[in-house]
Amino acid sequence: RRKIIIDTDPGQDDAAALMLAFASPDELDVLGLCAVAGNVPLSLTSRNVRIVCELCGQSDMPVFEGAMHPILRKQVTAEHVHGRTGLDGAELPEPTMAVRSQHAVDFIVETVMREPAGSVTLCTLGPLTNVALALQMEPAIAGRVRELVMMGGGFFEGGNITPAAEFNIYVDPEAAAAVFASGIPIVMMPLDVTHQLLTRKDRVARIAALGTRPAQVLVGWLAFFERFDEEKYGSDGGPLHDPTVIAYLLKPELFSGRHCNVEIETQSELTVGMTVVDWWRVSGRKPNAMVMRHVDADGFFDLLTERVGRL
Ligand code: BDR
Ligand code: CA
Repeated sequence: RRKIIIDTDPGQDDAAALMLAFASPDELDVLGLCAVAGNVPLSLTSRNVRIVCELCGQSDMPVFEGAMHPILRKQVTAEHVHGRTGLDGAELPEPTMAVRSQHAVDFIVETVMREPAGSVTLCTLGPLTNVALALQMEPAIAGRVRELVMMGGGFFEGGNITPAAEFNIYVDPEAAAAVFASGIPIVMMPLDVTHQLLTRKDRVARIAALGTRPAQVLVGWLAFFERFDEEKYGSDGGPLHDPTVIAYLLKPELFSGRHCNVEIETQSELTVGMTVVDWWRVSGRKPNAMVMRHVDADGFFDLLTERVGRL
């Protein structure tokens, strides 16, 4: 069983990722969940993490609150995609489970230093603020983390919050730059992959047919989430970004990509938050990330549907 910490800013697609993780106890040992400011402010992402836990019967799961703001910049949020609460689309009770008093950054440092070196995987579904702060607090974690699997960035596909930048990187580019420079082995799920995972009607219908409460709630969330892309781009469904991170841990063979160098733009006003991916290895810079580019979309939706059915 792989030990993982999930750092997240729910977000309907974050919620789907958490559901996939909770449904996979044979493969994954979730040590804790860290909330970070991202799609909505921290108070709401923390609330939303706990809503998903309670929906999935995981109210004993340790939940920690992390950074309230990006390291340097003014907070940017995405209510235009995720709604006012960040998790619009289903009526659910306010969570009753408590947040742990330990700060998420302390939890990350303590856990990575306590567990055997090379055993903890960090899964990030939002801005990289908490991980960057943990690295600043205890640089030795870089040599102990097994792998950091992240949703963020885009290269041939461009950006989704600016023409050049994907949201998670754009929100805290300084944090992303610190993480990519840290030496932690990184697996990156960019928009190039996630845009291949549209929540098409036939795919969502299979989840709806599961007939369970968690499936029904997920379908409500997806219906809200996908309207942004459907209205703006006329697509059938929206891109399911964050569950790629968990799907990779369960079935890495669904994904393919290339180990190459990635640098984060932090200086240019026009392209800040851009992930400069040296796909063609022209820079001579050292590869620092496994950058995914292709996904078996049907295999991905089969996995998601089968696992959500277990909840
Ligand atoms: C990423 O940004 C958020 O809106 C989603 O939850 C995902 O993590 C996609 O750019
Ligand atoms: Ca997210």
